Amino acid sequence: MYTKKGGFNMGTKIKSVGVITPGGDAPGMNSAIRAVVRTAIAYDLSVFGIERGWQGLIEGKIRSMDLQSVGGVINRGGTILHTHRCPEFREKAFRHKAYEKLKAFNIDSLVVIGGDGSLNASYQIYKEYGIPIINIPASIDNDLYGTDYSIGFDTAVNTAVEAIDKIRDTATSHERVFVIEVMGRNNGFIALDVGLVAGAEAILIPEIPFDLSSIAQKLAYGQQRGKSSFIIVMAEAVGKAEEIAKKLRRKTNMDVRVSVLGHIQRGGSPTALSRETACKLGARAVQLLKENKKALMVGMISDRIIETPLQEVIRRKKKIDLSTYKLANLLAA
Ligand code: F6P
Repeated sequence: MYTKKGGFNMGTKIKSVGVITPGGDAPGMNSAIRAVVRTAIAYDLSVFGIERGWQGLIEGKIRSMDLQSVGGVINRGGTILHTHRCPEFREKAFRHKAYEKLKAFNIDSLVVIGGDGSLNASYQIYKEYGIPIINIPASIDNDLYGTDYSIGFDTAVNTAVEAIDKIRDTATSHERVFVIEVMGRNNGFIALDVGLVAGAEAILIPEIPFDLSSIAQKLAYGQQRGKSSFIIVMAEAVGKAEEIAKKLRRKTNMDVRVSVLGHIQRGGSPTALSRETACKLGARAVQLLKENKKALMVGMISDRIIETPLQEVIRRKKKIDLSTYKLANLLAA
């Protein structure tokens, strides 16, 4: 794949795959690594695990993987390859070091399992060096265009809902309002799904403007009808939960408490859906490399595996489902 002069021959068939999980971890990443490794071996490709994300790549933290190296990981949260936030990857010099390492280890294709940062970095490497790359969406935020589900999202939603069900017990006993902050750095995908299935009386997400006075009125109206406890789910992207709670205390006569769920949403054994998505997308990613495809993201759309060019995934924005938002409001009267 690599020529003597140091270039990359894009015409030849790949012989090896590197698998990497940069950025934030997500439950189900291990199921995806397992699928990549075992499919690659079935295709007679050698597989390398790149540890600690892009940082580990430039440090040469690369190990050969065999069938056994992914034994017993399908149900484990986190990533056995470890990860690391790596803003330096935006610099060309840093990416060049990454390319040099891939060349040194004779890794002539990559499966990148991660979220939006990983996707942008992958596209840059592909554009600069032509290395065949297939991305697998894995991020609890579920904010990538080109897939209904990113690996880890369903697990994070289930974890948050389980926690909120418990908070509801104490909220009901004490007749309190709880403002519960869920993850979602720039968006409300987790908050919306969690809010719907946890029966939240209000959902605050950055995509839809909200007014705390109207929410206070909704609570008062609920109180008049005999309701005495309320759950408000907010995405971290809309601000600080404590600030929202303070304002609501001023606008209502209710006892308002706060709970920030935080990184608990990123851990735990992946749900069946997170694992299924990981198994299917992991295997498909390797098949695509074997077919000489490159610069694609594999995703699940309406239960089918769909490939979208990386460029398009980066350019387009996944939209929040307004009908889900309306439904949640209607049901949580
Ligand atoms: O992107 C996933 C995510 O969990 C976001 O929801 C959250 O804002 C962020 O990662 C937290 O990042 P870190 O791993 O740096 O704490």
